[in-house]
Amino acid sequence: MLKRYIAGKFRHPDGFSGRLVGRLMATGNRKAVDWTVSLLDIEADDHLLEVGFGPGVAIELARRAGAGRIAGVDSSSTMVDVARRRNAHAVEAGLVDLRCGDAAFLPYASRTFDKVFSIHCIYFWANPVRALREFQRVLVSGGIVAVTILPKDRWREHKTVPPADLFTLYGAAEVAALLEQAGFHDVRVEDGEGSGKLRCACIIGTKRSGAGAGNARESALMPRGTRAAAGVAAPASRPFASAAASSTLEENT
Ligand SMILES: C[S@@+](CC[C@H](N)C(=O)[O-])C[C@H]1O[C@@H](n2cnc3c(N)ncnc32)[C@H](O)[C@@H]1O
Repeated sequence: MLKRYIAGKFRHPDGFSGRLVGRLMATGNRKAVDWTVSLLDIEADDHLLEVGFGPGVAIELARRAGAGRIAGVDSSSTMVDVARRRNAHAVEAGLVDLRCGDAAFLPYASRTFDKVFSIHCIYFWANPVRALREFQRVLVSGGIVAVTILPKDRWREHKTVPPADLFTLYGAAEVAALLEQAGFHDVRVEDGEGSGKLRCACIIGTKRSGAGAGNARESALMPRGTRAAAGVAAPASRPFASAAASSTLEENT
């Protein structure tokens, strides 16, 4: 009964107990968060989105790693509050924008982000392909998606396998197939040697180049370090672009 209650708080951390579970996430998931942020290969003008940021540790680390601007969406208003406090200076400076919302209905305009990532959150999405298509919509052409999970077979090494009606567990190959179904290409699986005792996997894909070609953030396609070498200026800084209404799948490119 208590285990079920706590598992429910990882899915939707609300109220006082949600804040306590948020603290557990901040320490317990730290290695997976560190590792995932390192895989993003962040550049100074990168515009990032995290879906399901929980206590906001990855947002903080991505800022420290030099990301230009970071947005986040989480379905728990309690976590939005906690993560905003953790990143208060960057929020006040307009460099971090954290909102309450659902992975499948992102409140941002199409082709806004260079990289979209999500850590220990896909387990809770009612329709993962729909959410991943939403990620695809808000990414620039050539943008990167990264989804970190504890693969299904490794949960058994964990003390508790969470209730199936609260968590949908996936294997890394299953998530890779979902990314492909959503239209991502060059999908690969990174195995988390450095992601701690609970060895995670990060499934990474790319939004096909050409879709939305010519947009202002196209230079983000270039490998690390080559933008400056090729004399490509960083895209001009612009405020967070919001979708006027809930996004539609028709906008996917
Ligand atoms: C297990 S926590 C992981 C938090 C953080 N990424 C970490 O690794 O510490 C899952 C987070 O995803 C959020 N979440 C659950 N379902 C979501 C959805 N459909 N859309 C957006 N966020 C969601 C929860 O509110 C919670 O903050």
